[in-house]
Amino acid sequence: MTSPRTTGRTPATRSLATRLAALATGALTAVALFTAAAPAAHAADAPLRDLAAAKGKVIGTAVTGSRLTGTYGDIAGTQFSSLTPGNAMKWGSVEPTQGTFNWSEADQIVAFARAHGQQVRGHTLVWHSQNPSWLTNGTWTAAQLSTLLQNHITTEVSRYRGQVASWDVVNEPFNEDGTYRSDLWYDNLGPSYIAQALTWARAADPDAKLYINDYNVEGVGAKSDALYNLVKSLKAQGVPIDGVGLQAHLILGQVPATLQQNIQRFADLGVDVSVTELDVRMQLPATAAKLTQQAADYKAVFAACVAVSRCAGVTVWGFTDSDSWIPDVFSGYGAATPYDENYAPKPAYGAIAEALGGGGTTTPPTGACTASYEVVSAWNNGFTGQVRISCSGAALSSWKATWTYGAGQRITQAWNAACTQSGTAVSCANAGYNGTVPDGGSVTFGFNASWSGSNPVPVVTLG
Ligand code: XIL
Repeated sequence: MTSPRTTGRTPATRSLATRLAALATGALTAVALFTAAAPAAHAADAPLRDLAAAKGKVIGTAVTGSRLTGTYGDIAGTQFSSLTPGNAMKWGSVEPTQGTFNWSEADQIVAFARAHGQQVRGHTLVWHSQNPSWLTNGTWTAAQLSTLLQNHITTEVSRYRGQVASWDVVNEPFNEDGTYRSDLWYDNLGPSYIAQALTWARAADPDAKLYINDYNVEGVGAKSDALYNLVKSLKAQGVPIDGVGLQAHLILGQVPATLQQNIQRFADLGVDVSVTELDVRMQLPATAAKLTQQAADYKAVFAACVAVSRCAGVTVWGFTDSDSWIPDVFSGYGAATPYDENYAPKPAYGAIAEALGGGGTTTPPTGACTASYEVVSAWNNGFTGQVRISCSGAALSSWKATWTYGAGQRITQAWNAACTQSGTAVSCANAGYNGTVPDGGSVTFGFNASWSGSNPVPVVTLG
C-alpha cells in the first residue's frame, strides 16, 4: 500500500532520504546525518507523555513491534506513556496453530515498554475478528468453546501478569442498534461470555484493569446506551469490570458533541474510561484546511478526557500515517494520525500538546531549527561525535540538544556545549558563547564517547 504524502515539509523529507542513504552505507564511521524532523515549535514542547502525566493522564499509541527502532522507536519511546500492540496480542497472532504459540512480537513490545517506563494496554482477548482459522473453522460444542476461551484468556493474561496495566478483555460486542453482535461467542455461549471472560481475566491477573472496548460508542446513542446498561448490570452483579474503552475511529469534523457527557456518565457508574484507538480520518489528499480541522478534532477528544477525572487517558491508533490501518480499510481515506508518513508532527500534534496544557501550535510553523548528529570518527572502544544545530526561517537564543543512547554509549568529554548523561539520557546545553543561532546560521558542538558492541545513531531533539 502506498498513500500519498500528506504534507510537504522539507526537513522531514530530507530526514528520511538522508536516513536511508546513511543506512545504505552501513558503515559506522560514515557520516550519518540524521535530521531531527522537528519544527522549532514542536521541538520546544515537552514530550506529550510529560504533558499528559502533569494532567494525571496516560497517552498511548498502538505500535507494530518490528518497527520499534530508529525514528519510529524514538518517537514511540519518548512521546507516549503507554503502548498497545496493534495486532501482536490478538488470538490469531499468538496461537496461529492450536497449541503452538508465538509470543515474539508481543514480548518485544512489552520489553520495549518496560525499557521506556511505559504501560502496556493488552489488546484483545475476546473478539469476533482476527481469530485463528483453526478456531473459527472448528466444530465445537458450547462447553468446548467455553473451555477454549477460558484457556486462551488464562494463558495470555498469566503470561503478562504484572506487565499489562489494562486489558481490552472484550472487544466490539455490540451492533450499531445496541443488540449483541452475532459472532462465535454470542451465538454459542450467549451474553454470559462477557462476564465469564472478565472473571477469568481477573483470576489470571488481579491487578490488571479490565475493559470492554467498542467503536461508535463515543457519543450518547443506541450503541453506547447498550454498553452503558451492560456495564451497569455487570457492576450490579459484582462482575469484575474496571473500565470502558471508547475506540474513537473518527471521521474529520465529526467528534460527537456528547463525547464528554458520555465519558462522564460511564465514569459515574464507577468505572474508568479510556479513549483506546483514536484516529481522525480524512478523504485524501490532505489539505492545510483539513489538517487544521483534524487538529481541532484531536484537541476536542483530548480536552474531553482531561475534563473528566476518571478518564484515564487517550491512545492513538498509530502515531504516524505510515503505520495506520485507515488506508487499507477505508478506501480513499488516510492521514489520520498526529505525525505524517515522514514522522513530521502535523497540526494535530500541537493540538494534543495544547489540550494537555503545553504550548503547542495548531498551525504548521513556517521555519525550523533542526539538529543533525554525526559520528566523525570511531575506534575500538570510543568515538567522536558532532551535532550541528541549524536554523532556517527561525532562530534560537539558547538551545539544548537531547538524545537517548540505547546501546550503552557514554559521553566522556564535550566541547562547545555542557553535556550531562544520566543513564541513557544525554543532554547538551549551549556554552555561554554559542547560544544564539541566527536565521540561516548554525552552530556545532562535539564530544567523545565510549561504546562497545553497536553504536546506533540517535535522534536528537532540540529544546
Ligand atoms: C486493526 C489493525 O490496526 C490492523 O493492522 C489490522 O489489519 C486490523 O485490525 N478496532 C480494533 C483494532 O479493535 O484491533 C483494529 O486494529 C482496528 C479496529
